[in-house]
Amino acid sequence: MRIIQAGDYNDMSRKAAAILAAQITLKPDCVLGLATGSTPVGAYEKLVEWYRNGSLDFSGVSSVNLDEYRGIGKENPQSYYYFMHQHLFDKVNIRPENTRVPDGTEPDAEKECRAYEEHIRSLGGIDLQLLGLGHNGHIGFNEPAATFAKVTHCVDLAESTIEANKRFFASADEVPRQAYTMGIGTIMHAKKILVVVSGEDKAEIVAKAFFGEVTPEVPASILQMHQDVTLVADTAALSRIPR
Ligand code: F6R
Repeated sequence: MRIIQAGDYNDMSRKAAAILAAQITLKPDCVLGLATGSTPVGAYEKLVEWYRNGSLDFSGVSSVNLDEYRGIGKENPQSYYYFMHQHLFDKVNIRPENTRVPDGTEPDAEKECRAYEEHIRSLGGIDLQLLGLGHNGHIGFNEPAATFAKVTHCVDLAESTIEANKRFFASADEVPRQAYTMGIGTIMHAKKILVVVSGEDKAEIVAKAFFGEVTPEVPASILQMHQDVTLVADTAALSRIPR
């Protein structure tokens, strides 16, 4: 695992965006696995800036997102579909038909999750998967559990996740209780993984996930077993790792 220390959130965003941009430059028809949440927003802003100044071309890029809340539609501002369009897809020249987010309105969970896995396979797999890190160690919406989930599946969100994500909703009651998420196996199949983390509040989970025991109770700890992981984190988020 490579650890790239950034001074602060802006520096983390610039460094992470540079890695994503390098991937697009090296392989213009690459498949990006994308994440939502507050952490990658700054990196997406940088990518938009570099697209606008002519440094980046998304016309050959395909993307698959990690996850989506179950039961909310594309037009809902809290949906991850909406988030991706707002922060990236509508601002660069990626082809809409080359982007995919799990369909939260598909009531048949098995059907949607199977179709999502097949779609990723049909693209030839993910070249670079971007990940944020939950306070409880989740990646995608793979919550702490007794085993690692292999493929895209429907999850019940942990209380701690509902609590953490309520900031985006009018109240905790409005946070959906379920989501569709890539599995740990889906994520681990990505050729390269880029994890972005910022802030003192994530310092403890960063130390646990990347230097602690590999256990499904800390889903991100499995990343220690991946052959090409880059962690870009700011000084605050790295403040508890062993030196
Ligand atoms: C988002 C996702 C989540 C977030 C994680 C961190 O698509 O899958 O795992 O990356 O909850 O969220 P933030 O960045 O808001 O702290």
